[in-house]
Amino acid sequence: MKFSYQNSTQILFGQGQISSITQAIDTSKKVLVIYGGGSVKKNGVYQQVEKALENHNWLEFSGVEANPTKETMDKAVAIIKQQSVDFILAVGGGSVIDGAKYAAAAAHYDGDGWDILTGNYKPEVATPIGVILTIPATGSESNINSVITKAETQQKLPFAAACVQPLFAVMDPDVMKTLPEKQLVNGIVDAWVHVCEQYITKASGALVQDGYSEALLRALKTLGDTYAQRDNDLWRANLMWTANQALNGLIAAGVEQDWATHMIGHELTALWHVDHARSLAIVQPALLRNQIEHKRAKLEQMGRNVFALQESSDLAERTIDAIEGFYNQLGVATKLTEHNVSKQQAIDLVIERLEGHGMIALTENQTVTPVEARQILENAVA
Ligand code: NZQ
Ligand code: ZN
Repeated sequence: MKFSYQNSTQILFGQGQISSITQAIDTSKKVLVIYGGGSVKKNGVYQQVEKALENHNWLEFSGVEANPTKETMDKAVAIIKQQSVDFILAVGGGSVIDGAKYAAAAAHYDGDGWDILTGNYKPEVATPIGVILTIPATGSESNINSVITKAETQQKLPFAAACVQPLFAVMDPDVMKTLPEKQLVNGIVDAWVHVCEQYITKASGALVQDGYSEALLRALKTLGDTYAQRDNDLWRANLMWTANQALNGLIAAGVEQDWATHMIGHELTALWHVDHARSLAIVQPALLRNQIEHKRAKLEQMGRNVFALQESSDLAERTIDAIEGFYNQLGVATKLTEHNVSKQQAIDLVIERLEGHGMIALTENQTVTPVEARQILENAVA
C-alpha cells in the first residue's frame, strides 16, 4: 500500500443547501452557470440558484447534452474566454459536471480542447468549479475525472486532472424528486459498478478499502431491495451519499483498479447512445465470467460479505449470477439490443474502436486484449 490521497471538495449536504452557494462563491467572481437540457427549470433548482446569486455577477450556458460533446462545450469555452469568467457553477448530473470540467480546462489552452482527451495536452490550470448535483450516479461532483464525446468521430474518452476537482459540491437530496425512474436506477447501477471496478481485483488484504467497498455495495443492494420506498427522504439521502463515496478516490487508494467494463461500455454509448449505466450492466457480467480466474478470490469475498452467500466451490460463479440478478431486479438489461447492425458487425465495430483508442490490455492484469474483449462481447451482445 503506497499512495497519495487528497479530496479537497467541500461537501454541502442536505435539504435546503442550495442557498449556501451565496457564501460559497465570492461576489468578486464573474460566474458562468452551466446546466443541461432544462430539467433544472422545471424542478425549481434554477430558481433557487437565481435567488442565491442575486447579488453576484453571473451569466449562463445551457444545453449540455447527456454524454456531453466537445462540440457543445467549445461554445462554453468561447464564452469563458470572451467574458473573462472566473468561476463556473455546474448545475446538473455527471454530464453537466464533466462538460464544465472540460470547459474549465480548455479555456486555459490555446489549442483544440480535444487534445486534453487524447493526452496531447495535460491541463494543470483550470477555471475554478463549484457544483450543484441534481442526479446521484457518477461521483463527478467531487472527483478529478471527466468523460467527453467528440460527436464528429463518435469517440467517448476520459481524462483526469487535479485542477478540475470541484471546490464544493452541493448535494440536496430533494433535487432527486423529479428524476425519471430510469435515471434513478442508472444512478444505483453506475455507483455499484464504480465500487466493483475498484474492488473486484486481486485479493490484497487492504482491510479499510475492502471493508468500505463492501459497506457501499451493501448500501446499494439495500437501496435496490427497498426500491419501493424511493419516495422517502432518507432513501434519497442514502443513495446520494453512497454514489458520491463510490467514486471520490478513497476506496481506490493503494489498491489495484480494473475499469475495463467502463472502457468497453463507453464504446457502446459512443456508437449507439446506450445510457452510461446500462452499458456497464451489459458488459460487466460477461467480463467477470471471462476473467473469473483472475478475480475468483475477490468474487468469493463479495459473495460472502455483500450477498451473504453460503460457501461452495462455485461461490465466485454464483456471485456473478447475483450481480446480474441485481441488475435484472432493477429492470436493467444485461444484453445489448440497441445495435442497429448484425451481432458480428456490432462486435467488430466495438473491437475496432477499442483498438483505435489503444484499449488493448485492459483490467488490473492487462488480460483483456482484443481477443478476450471479443469473447466478452459474444456473450454481451444479443
Ligand atoms: O439535461 P437535463 O434536462 O438536466 O436532464 C438530465 C439528463 O437528461 C436528467 N436530469 C438530471 N437531473 C435531473 C434530471 N431530470 C429530472 N430531475 C433531475 N433532478 O437526467 C439525464 C441524465 O443526466 P446525466 O448528467 O447524463 O446523468 P449522469 O449523472 O448519469 O452522467 C452520465 C455521464 O457521466 C459520465 C458518463 O460517461 C456520462 O457521460 N461519467 C462520469 C464519471 C466521472 N466524471 O467521474 C464517471 C462515470 O463512470 C461516467 O463515465
Ligand atoms: Zn460510471
